[in-house]
Amino acid sequence: MLQMAGRMGVLGTETAFEVLARANALAAEGRSIINLGIGQPDFPTPEHIVEAGRKALADGHHGYTPANGIPALRAAVAADLLRRHGVEVSPELVLVVPGAKVTMFFSILMFGEPGVEILYPNPGFPIYESVIRFSGATPVPIPLHEAAGFSFSANEVLDKITPRTRLIIINSPANPTGGVVPREELDRLVAGLERHPHVAVLSDEIYGEILYDGAEHVSLLRYPSLRDRLILLDGWSKTYAMTGWRLGYGVWPKQLFAHAERLAINCHSCVNAATQFAGIAALKGPREPVERMVRAFAERREYIAGALNSLPGVRCANPGGAFYTFPNVAGTGYDAKTLQTELLDKTGVATIAGTSFGSFGEDYIRISYANSLANLQEAVERIRKFLGNLPGR
Ligand SMILES: Cc1ncc(COP(=O)(O)O)c(C=O)c1O
Repeated sequence: MLQMAGRMGVLGTETAFEVLARANALAAEGRSIINLGIGQPDFPTPEHIVEAGRKALADGHHGYTPANGIPALRAAVAADLLRRHGVEVSPELVLVVPGAKVTMFFSILMFGEPGVEILYPNPGFPIYESVIRFSGATPVPIPLHEAAGFSFSANEVLDKITPRTRLIIINSPANPTGGVVPREELDRLVAGLERHPHVAVLSDEIYGEILYDGAEHVSLLRYPSLRDRLILLDGWSKTYAMTGWRLGYGVWPKQLFAHAERLAINCHSCVNAATQFAGIAALKGPREPVERMVRAFAERREYIAGALNSLPGVRCANPGGAFYTFPNVAGTGYDAKTLQTELLDKTGVATIAGTSFGSFGEDYIRISYANSLANLQEAVERIRKFLGNLPGR
């Protein structure tokens, strides 16, 4: 009998991958499946980025790169942050990693251990809670409120800080809700954090360029009082439709950078070289492909939020960012997990139960609208028919 470390028993997962496997299995049986469970753009990576990756391979970039990332890429990240947020960041503090998730994993491992508390959004990206538990720390949920567009209340966050709190995780625009935290709430949070200098902040801004209706993304980088304890997580996966390339970065405070670099050297050595060249092309290339993708998401969002609101028992806030909606389905009489299973098995529409994103997601399902308008329309009609056939309707 092999005996694993006890922490292996508390590691969670991302249900999106399980739903994808089930949806694929049903599709292989010949069922018509519309996958609204997926967490990635349905667009290909723009061609000039693919070409840069191809060229890097042809030019012989086959070896290890510096663990932090190639200097031109780190400089391009710093230039991009200046363009987007008007903030000067030293390329020396940028750590390029294989996917944005790695910055999350490293940050939580760096602070988490038994006896420590880490605050994280709930409902939120499931890996936060999973890795917090894996580290031995206690996960302390920050409730997100539907009535506030799935923002948190800064006062509620500040009230949860104790002497044992070492890290707070913030995610805006958010997965799974599409919520965007308003500037005033961030201002209040940062002002309050000045009273708690022992707390670091991980700001997951991976959806920072996918915004609608003039919603504003306020990067936590803009707050000077946080800079010496802020870890910024961002990357290419969503903005440039590059999920499979595995490329992300963290901007680390000076006091933590060497530790993060050491984790990288112990873990993955460096990101594959060709991907890094593709990443430079993405940041320095035309913005038009990104703008076109966001326009397409905006059109779909407009449709899906309205259509979901017209379904019996369903209420849907209009999300400010990302490509998810998080409709409240309590009125259907189904719990989220049963609804997820029934919708997939009976209608072929894959969604994800809100409980996959934490205990506060029990009244919701996540719908990704990274799918064609025609598929979204078909999915809504299937769901409408299914809900209309409920006993008692
Ligand atoms: C909130 C959030 N952060 C981070 C990530 C991970 O991004 P990557 O694929 O670059 O690791 C995701 C991916 O779904 C996400 O939704």
